[in-house]
Amino acid sequence: MTNKQTILITGATGNIGGGAAVALARRGARVVLLGRRLESLEARADSIRVALSEEGIECQDTDIATLVVDFSDMESVRHAATEAMSRFSMINGLILSVGHLVQNGPNILPSGHELMFATSVMGPFLFTQLLLERMQRSDGLILQVIAPFYEEIDWQDLESIRNHRTTTAYNRAKTCERVIAAELARRYAGRISSVAFNPTYVIDKSDPELDKRWPSGFMGFFWRMMTVFFAKPPAVAGEPIADLMLSYRDRSAINGALFKLDKRIEKPDKAMNDKVLGKRLWDELDSLTGLTPE
Ligand SMILES: NC(=O)c1ccc[n+]([C@@H]2O[C@H](COP(=O)([O-])OP(=O)(O)OC[C@H]3O[C@@H](n4cnc5c(N)ncnc54)[C@H](OP(=O)(O)O)[C@@H]3O)[C@@H](O)[C@H]2O)c1
Repeated sequence: MTNKQTILITGATGNIGGGAAVALARRGARVVLLGRRLESLEARADSIRVALSEEGIECQDTDIATLVVDFSDMESVRHAATEAMSRFSMINGLILSVGHLVQNGPNILPSGHELMFATSVMGPFLFTQLLLERMQRSDGLILQVIAPFYEEIDWQDLESIRNHRTTTAYNRAKTCERVIAAELARRYAGRISSVAFNPTYVIDKSDPELDKRWPSGFMGFFWRMMTVFFAKPPAVAGEPIADLMLSYRDRSAINGALFKLDKRIEKPDKAMNDKVLGKRLWDELDSLTGLTPE
């Protein structure tokens, strides 16, 4: 038996999830790395073990676990939630840091859903719902990594399928993430806590695949320059995420809050404050993910 906090980290092979995983493991949490490919997850787990061992920090093999899931596929999400519940009797934290900007959309999945929306919004929503009961046992904290862009929801085209422009679709998915983080805080206050976390701009410049990240043309050039001059390393987001996960004895003190790295943002956020929007989006996602029949 372990009394370590168990924290599930989506996007654990990425910049922010990776930074959070190292920071949490270093502080003695049991981390569960979630992603699509077992080999990438195992490679990330090994790199964390090496980093800890270089720092003289002991960790058991079971302190860094992996769980395969494809968030664009709701069957995979259901399967992963069932597996998580059978393997972890306590789930103290869930970090939602999955997905990225996908070009040349709409990319329609066999399910009929749009790839970027399904991965960033539907899959994480469904996964969270399926774990809520388990997380309530331990005053669980859900941390949604956000980008601070706002795009009106188009209720006739929520997934940006009919009218798809990459940036608009991405920003709309990012807006949905913030809306749901706040709605979760309102609905489950006193049972679990939910926060939104703005990582600013974080890129792992040591990633050997870094060049494959960027689009071609001017946008690719723009992001390369942004990365050279402004990107911060994963630890810059990972450390404050670990603080939020592990430092609060009473997590309800931060329920519904928005953080920019280690700073709590008091200025009201348009997407998070809109209760009507929150309720409507929640209901839509309930039905899109099959949690309630349409
Ligand atoms: N980096 C930033 O500066 C920044 C700023 C604001 C907001 N954000 C947001 O924060 C989140 C993480 O950003 P990041 O920079 O860490 O991203 P990243 O390095 O591109 O990593 C993306 C992660 O998402 C996972 N992923 C992608 N599609 C998936 C799927 N269908 N199922 C399961 N996992 C999937 C990837 O895992 P595998 O490919 O290994 O499966 C990877 O771990 C994104 O939502 C991003 O929009 C990032």
